[in-house]
Amino acid sequence: ALPERVTIWEVGPRDGLQNEKSIVPVEVKLEFLDKLAAAGLTTLEATSFVSPKWVPQLADAEQLLAGLEKREGVRYPVLVPNERGLDRALEAGVSHIAIFASATETFAKKNLNSTVDEQFAMFEPVVTRARAEGLDVRGYVSMCFGDPWEGAVPAAQVAGVGKRLLDLGCSQLSLGDTIGVATAGQVEALIGQFADVGTLAVHFHDTYGQALANTLAALRCGVSTVDSSAGGLGGCPYAESATGNLATEDLVWMLDGLGVETGVDLDALVATSKWMAGKLGRPSPSRVVNALAG
Ligand code: HMG
Ligand code: MG
Repeated sequence: ALPERVTIWEVGPRDGLQNEKSIVPVEVKLEFLDKLAAAGLTTLEATSFVSPKWVPQLADAEQLLAGLEKREGVRYPVLVPNERGLDRALEAGVSHIAIFASATETFAKKNLNSTVDEQFAMFEPVVTRARAEGLDVRGYVSMCFGDPWEGAVPAAQVAGVGKRLLDLGCSQLSLGDTIGVATAGQVEALIGQFADVGTLAVHFHDTYGQALANTLAALRCGVSTVDSSAGGLGGCPYAESATGNLATEDLVWMLDGLGVETGVDLDALVATSKWMAGKLGRPSPSRVVNALAG
């Protein structure tokens, strides 16, 4: 059985724009966020409070939050790696953060300059303080299926990292296929490692064209929160083989067809991604954007 309703966790403004070669002006980012909210998306991952040396594309996080006109009923989570990031996020008035762990040693080093254990030492005070301030905390796990340096990643290793994040106090885990190599059977096997499917979200990159099939597999296992990015923007600057996320339009097309509610107006979303493609100077990789917008 499929869920009646899916919550789309829109990551385009963060996962999408962190990977752009050029730095998108903050006014364009704000307009993008507002158009996404107007299209009916209710969770917009807005930016990251990470080191600006590591991700210069999102160095304007303070200006972005200061300029954001938050809409009623919309959440604007941000990525936070460490206490410095939490201080900045609290100062900016955020109410929802996400920490991001790696399932593998190599990517922990490349993305966070940590070992797998050190990343938990970094996150622990972040989660404790964030929860004491009444913030909601999501935990990402990256490289859940394959890692460009280490190859296949065992499900038990991923589940171990995921359970440590839940034990720290994360309310939701997002299982990330950072480089888009997973296939549907692996998705089912990984989800089967967790006791409560209600705490899980899935985060697929579409490198090998498997993101929709993997999403459907996850929905059939009972997952009802799916990460995607408008127009299929995205990638990770610290994982070269990562391409864009599952496009939100491709996801909404499938869910509309299945009769699963999302609250998203597909035409408004396609228009937004067309507009953004114009700002970025290249066409959207989304099949549905191209089919509908021509
Ligand atoms: P480091 O270089 O080991 O740490 O980086 P550091 O403490 O030496 O800091 C370096 C400099 O950054 C210092 O400045 C710090 O003050 C500053 P300096 O003294 O040299 O002038 N700094 C900060 N400034 C602002 N905000 C902060 C902050 N922290 C330090 N929060 C660190 C360690 C964790 C900071 C770094 O590795 C980092 O920022 N990494 C983030 C990388 C990133 O954002 N990657 C993309 C997101 S993850 C992803 O895309 C995957 C996902 O989509 C799921 C999936 O697809 O799998 C979520
Ligand atoms: Mg990602």
